[in-house]
Amino acid sequence: MAIMVTGGAGYIGAHVVRLLQERGDEVIVVDDLSSGVRENVGESRLVEMNLAAADTPAALAELMRETGTTAVVHFGALKQVGESVEQPLRYYDTNIGGFSNLLAAMQTAGVDQLVFSSSAATYGILDVEYLTEDLITRPTSPYGETKLINEWMMQAQIKAAGLKGVALRYFNVAGAGWDDLGDRATLNLIPLVLRAIDHGKDAQIFGDDYNTPDGTCQRDYVHVLDLAEAHLAALEYLGRDELPYDVFNVGTGTGTSVKQIISEIERVKGVDTNAQIQPRRGGDPDRLVCSPERIEKTLGWKATRTLAESVESAVSAWTPRD
Ligand code: WQD
Repeated sequence: MAIMVTGGAGYIGAHVVRLLQERGDEVIVVDDLSSGVRENVGESRLVEMNLAAADTPAALAELMRETGTTAVVHFGALKQVGESVEQPLRYYDTNIGGFSNLLAAMQTAGVDQLVFSSSAATYGILDVEYLTEDLITRPTSPYGETKLINEWMMQAQIKAAGLKGVALRYFNVAGAGWDDLGDRATLNLIPLVLRAIDHGKDAQIFGDDYNTPDGTCQRDYVHVLDLAEAHLAALEYLGRDELPYDVFNVGTGTGTSVKQIISEIERVKGVDTNAQIQPRRGGDPDRLVCSPERIEKTLGWKATRTLAESVESAVSAWTPRD
């Protein structure tokens, strides 16, 4: 009996792998190592594989049979909003083609439980205070489109092939559950500010004229360990044999602004980042904050770690980089 984690060598996936390892599950990691790293998965077997390759469905189905896979947690995808605007076909190929291959392999191998890493990017820019799962989804990037299409693909497979699936729509992930599992990518606000501090550069604030209390964008920052625990709760839910499909926001329900994040980093690091206001970045909603009511009620999951813990653990796990 094994749980397969695709993209399990990456930042978020590795946290789920470690929680599964700690509770004694056998874990099989499939990753193309395009951004993940082998040392993130410890003792678990890691099979290097490109999910979008033509021969993947047969190879992956065989691996599922060989390992006695009973459920899949799927992280293996590209995730940069800006990059997806510049390289849409790469995102459609990897995120949709790769997911189609995964679903085909699961059907062939008779694996019927799937937890899918979706995104708040599926909502697009909606003028609401708290995003709820019943809202219309109008993604504004190819990345968000691929995540929404993946949700549709899951629902179609549930009808056609008896799959059971849960989609988790992530908001902004931060922090580290262990110092060796910090976010190695320097793509988001917290790592970008930490790198600026290392290099003696000013932090950058992309716009301070948004419709928020301090004029900077508000996001819903969830500790990566809280997020990982939501995946284990979703796996348990699938084992309960209730609804074949459900979708849940994973967030805290609290909005934190760019300025507040930078102030928290300055507090933890004991420095002044001399943050500079820059022009707005394209496509940034003023506020992206979720209502976590459904996941709390249905899965019994609630974020327990504070923003301070997210920033402190991000700083503690930070490794200087270029
Ligand atoms: C946050 C805010 C920037 C850097 C992330 C993930 C995405 C999705 C949603 C999962 C924005 C501002 C940033 C900087 C700044 N998650 N900023 N100065 O865009 O919310 O997207 O969460 O699917 O995959 O990437 O995160 O950290 O890039 O930006 O002012 O140096 O911080 O403009 O308002 P974003 P982010």
